[in-house]
Amino acid sequence: MKKVCLLAPFLFIALIVSPFFNLCGAVYAQTIKLPEPKVDGPLSIEKAIKERRSIRSYKPESLTIEAVSQVLWAAQGITEPQKGLRTAPSARAQYLIEVYLIADNVTDLKPGLYKYIPKGHLLQTISLGDAKERLFGAAGQTPIKNAPCALLITGHIARSTNPGWIYLEAGHSSQNVYLQCVSLNFGTVAMAGFKPEEVKKALNIPDGEQPIYIMPIGKK
Ligand SMILES: Cc1cc2nc3c(=O)[nH]c(=O)nc-3n(C[C@H](O)[C@H](O)[C@H](O)COP(=O)(O)O)c2cc1C
Repeated sequence: MKKVCLLAPFLFIALIVSPFFNLCGAVYAQTIKLPEPKVDGPLSIEKAIKERRSIRSYKPESLTIEAVSQVLWAAQGITEPQKGLRTAPSARAQYLIEVYLIADNVTDLKPGLYKYIPKGHLLQTISLGDAKERLFGAAGQTPIKNAPCALLITGHIARSTNPGWIYLEAGHSSQNVYLQCVSLNFGTVAMAGFKPEEVKKALNIPDGEQPIYIMPIGKK
């Protein structure tokens, strides 16, 4: 009985903390503050549009967290803090898409699956480990295998008044990613040739979210 009393405070803390850390160390609710994005650059928008191409092979080199932060900002960052408006347009400003980062070789970031949180420009750790292998196993396109990281854009199909809107929003976001990649001298490709259910299962994407685009990213 005495032993139980002594252990009680520890058991209480474990109970509070357990939803955030699973015992295998695979699931975290930790958030990471991303480096501030730049809002100016050396390349004109006309040149970025002209040079945009789908690139499917990448140098086997790491990307910096600063560069990845810049790409995430381009995809869905907040550009008008009062109303929380973002880099890409959204039907009724409902913001029906989510952007996930599958990191494999990114400086200062452990390999794993992260969710981009526009408010505060944060990354939420979803799971650490072999997310890229799981994604490649489910989607099976070689650019994923060779890229140091990839984005997964999903849409909240259940929240969308019009089922088509999530795809339109994903398209806007994806084009921003393409153009930002041109400016950073990275290659990317918007890929939709996969089975959404397989990708969902492989990465444990929540119900109500539909995987739309996978965009591997790496140095050209
Ligand atoms: C809806 C959509 C789905 C696509 N899916 C894939 C894909 O699964 N794999 C791939 O390698 N490229 C994919 N692409 C990229 C196209 O193949 C590419 O945009 C096209 O060949 C034109 O080349 P460009 O982007 O360099 O102009 C997709 C593009 C779109 C718009």
